[in-house]
Amino acid sequence: METKPGAALRRAQEAMMQTAPAAARSPLRPRYHIAAPAGWINDPNGLIQTGGVYHVFYQLHPYSPEWGPMHWGHAASRDLAHWEDFPIALAPDQPYEDGCFSGCAVDAGGVLTLFYTAHRGGPPLRESQCAARSFDGGRTFVKDPQNPLIPAPPEGFSADFRDPKVWRGDGGWHMIVGSSHGGRGCALLYDSPDLSRWEYRGIFAESDGSSGTMWECPNYCEVDGRGVFLFSPIGMPGHKNVYQTGSFDARSGKFTGGPLRELDHGVDFYAAQAFQDERGRALLVAWMDRWGEPHPTAADGWAGLLTLPRELHVQNGRLVQQPAPELALLRGETLAYRRLPLRPDGALSVDWRGQCLELELSFRREEAGRGFTLWLDTAPGRGVPIVYDARRDAFAAPHGVFPHGADLPLDWVPRESPDPAVSLRVFTDACSVEAFASPLVFTSRIAPDAT
Ligand code: FRU
Repeated sequence: METKPGAALRRAQEAMMQTAPAAARSPLRPRYHIAAPAGWINDPNGLIQTGGVYHVFYQLHPYSPEWGPMHWGHAASRDLAHWEDFPIALAPDQPYEDGCFSGCAVDAGGVLTLFYTAHRGGPPLRESQCAARSFDGGRTFVKDPQNPLIPAPPEGFSADFRDPKVWRGDGGWHMIVGSSHGGRGCALLYDSPDLSRWEYRGIFAESDGSSGTMWECPNYCEVDGRGVFLFSPIGMPGHKNVYQTGSFDARSGKFTGGPLRELDHGVDFYAAQAFQDERGRALLVAWMDRWGEPHPTAADGWAGLLTLPRELHVQNGRLVQQPAPELALLRGETLAYRRLPLRPDGALSVDWRGQCLELELSFRREEAGRGFTLWLDTAPGRGVPIVYDARRDAFAAPHGVFPHGADLPLDWVPRESPDPAVSLRVFTDACSVEAFASPLVFTSRIAPDAT
């Protein structure tokens, strides 16, 4: 525990800024995605717009490009396209924590208030829910002296008890926290009249036995008047980050929803958070990475980045993600083709080589012949493929760099859309590809010069 307030934050900030110049020179450094100035990042945290400013916090280990005692890094933007690094918001510096784990932000009568999990590794593992407030527009935060506000899970639930999401309901505030119960993932509901006193209400939603043993990063948000519940299940093979559309009944404290669906079909997508901005628009940001993968950028002192902000809509009970329209502010030179020069083998290729590209391709299913492969070339004759099969009306985006003509491992995802008009929008940055294939999304972190 720190004796002088702020000492842990200052030390963390200094350590991070020492490595920042090397990270900034890294050839794989993203140019328009959020990443920490240096160090390791994972989940996005505390997404909010307040006073016109968008804030994105994230899980940060400022001392090395590996996961370690968690801090909250911070970036802010007025337009969702250009981001400014803010000072580190939270460091683990209290007796009840050795890491400040994931959480959310709310505007409490003009006070930017963060809710996070104070994690103590143990054994025994201890996870509790805490608050911190900023009185200077997010430059500094003061932890609540009453922390931990929720010191332990209710009896019978696992000590894994983390990632609070708070929102305002008609009669007060609600919080859901991820946990586990008899080996089944669940989200627990708490209510509060004042954001300080929290009362346990019961299970908000839980696994039927098929959707994971523990639910990380539960998130609830209203999108187009529908309730949307997201979570990142541990122990649900073949799934990373799922959602359900449905409704939350504040009286019973239960969420009821339709089938669970995958949010994103790429390999690098986890811990998504959704929130409503000041005009009520729902936006989503996720961690563009996954646990246990090597990071070629670690040699340059950094690892991990977040996805683009995505606007959310619900159509036919499904969540549709589109890149936030503000991203058009980043456009530079534009090339327009009325008809793309489709090669006889149905391949299109675009020179990527780690550049920032936004590609937009619109077509009708019946005009697409058998389909096509769009190659984002990392070198002549090789690249990252995105494949469309018109007969199946399905996309596949094999992860990695392949030679043109290679036998690709194709894992087809059907669009399941009645709309014959298909649009494919692809965003590449130095080390990432996000493909929005209405309504599917494929997100991958890629080292373009990898073979
Ligand atoms: C999800 C997660 C959260 C936790 C955080 C720790 O990626 O495991 O459950 O709060 O990361 O960094």
